Amino acid sequence: MATTDTTRASEGILGEDQRAERDKIIGMLQKAYWMEIETVMSYLANSVNPDGVRAQEIKESLEQDIAEELGHAKLFAQRIKDLYGVVPGSEKFSAEQSYLQPPDDQVDIVHVIRGVIEAETGAIEHYTKIVEATDGVDPVTNDMVIAILHDEQGHRRLFEGFLREYESQGLA
Ligand SMILES: [Fe+2]
Ligand SMILES: [Fe+2]
Repeated sequence: MATTDTTRASEGILGEDQRAERDKIIGMLQKAYWMEIETVMSYLANSVNPDGVRAQEIKESLEQDIAEELGHAKLFAQRIKDLYGVVPGSEKFSAEQSYLQPPDDQVDIVHVIRGVIEAETGAIEHYTKIVEATDGVDPVTNDMVIAILHDEQGHRRLFEGFLREYESQGLA
């Protein structure tokens, strides 16, 4: 009996007795997956749309982020699969990033900077919840999401710096 218990426990989050906990985590990972996919769409558009000399730096930064956010989406997808979940199909997608739609005027780069900060903040909030929910329950997801959270904090900090520059010049 003790042996059975030990075997069960050693399966951790993949154990049959952990199904409810696993489903909760899969749901959170699916939401994270869509957040990354939408960020890829938004950053792609905003790495191309803006006009002006000042926009160049922002566009280049966003272009680099596209690959990084896509990498995050892939990690979330694989982890969903590893936990016996299913990566959702495109019909399950619903957009939420209203703040990252193209501005009326394509020289309005402050709109883009603020939008990126909001997207990164949303990711940071959700990923922090995943880190809390998986703490001591699913160390592999916990470890993976901490690393992704680290990236998102770096993204937000970079764009906060951009915004600070615009604010100091009275442009934001
Ligand atoms: Fe990301
Ligand atoms: Fe990010």
